[in-house]
Amino acid sequence: MRNESDRTVAVSVDWDAEAARFDEEPDHGLGAPEVRAAWAERLRAWLPARPADVLDLGCGTGSLSLLAAEQGHRVTGVDSSPAMVARARAKLAGRDAVFLLGDAAAPPVGERLFDTVLVRHVLWSLPDPARVLRHWRGLLRPGGRFVLVEGVWGAVAPVGIPAERLTALLAPLAADVRVERLSAAAVLWGKEVDDERYAVVATV
Ligand SMILES: C[S@@+](CC[C@H](N)C(=O)[O-])C[C@H]1O[C@@H](n2cnc3c(N)ncnc32)[C@H](O)[C@@H]1O
Repeated sequence: MRNESDRTVAVSVDWDAEAARFDEEPDHGLGAPEVRAAWAERLRAWLPARPADVLDLGCGTGSLSLLAAEQGHRVTGVDSSPAMVARARAKLAGRDAVFLLGDAAAPPVGERLFDTVLVRHVLWSLPDPARVLRHWRGLLRPGGRFVLVEGVWGAVAPVGIPAERLTALLAPLAADVRVERLSAAAVLWGKEVDDERYAVVATV
């Protein structure tokens, strides 16, 4: 069901079927050194300076999880697709990282708290993003942060969540909300893009 105000939509994608070829997209697999380096640089700026507990929700094949682990963070990834989780586990084998099968909207992490909730290209597709953000807020330690990479994709029937909408949802949950526009940084996507792409770093 579509919500015209924020362009979120209940999507039905077979992520298990997508898993095998997911990393072929430049910004998914981060296979090109310059794309990988660009994401690593952004993550280094967005994540805490010291080793931290990072919860990567809708982690997919674990590409951002791997960058975070390489930067010294302890990663917990959650995804509802067994095939994605299997790939993430393989990609981060031997690292300080665990991957759980579960719903990003209600991650199966028990009473654990985290320093960062990291989410790329997932929140927009979840029903009731406001409720989901409130739940994620409860998973953060004092002084923790959201790192949310989202956007609006497609010209004819755009889907996604505009930065303006996401920052409004975060305003009651975070003390500091900062938007970084990413559309002009072609190196992140492996191509020029003209749709809305951004990251929000929100400290609670
Ligand atoms: C577009 S991919 C993004 C993957 C990863 N965050 C990245 O940026 O490379 C969306 C991912 O979210 C997962 N996903 C979608 N809905 C989910 C849900 N409700 N709970 C957990 N994972 C979900 C899918 O299985 C898929 O791996």
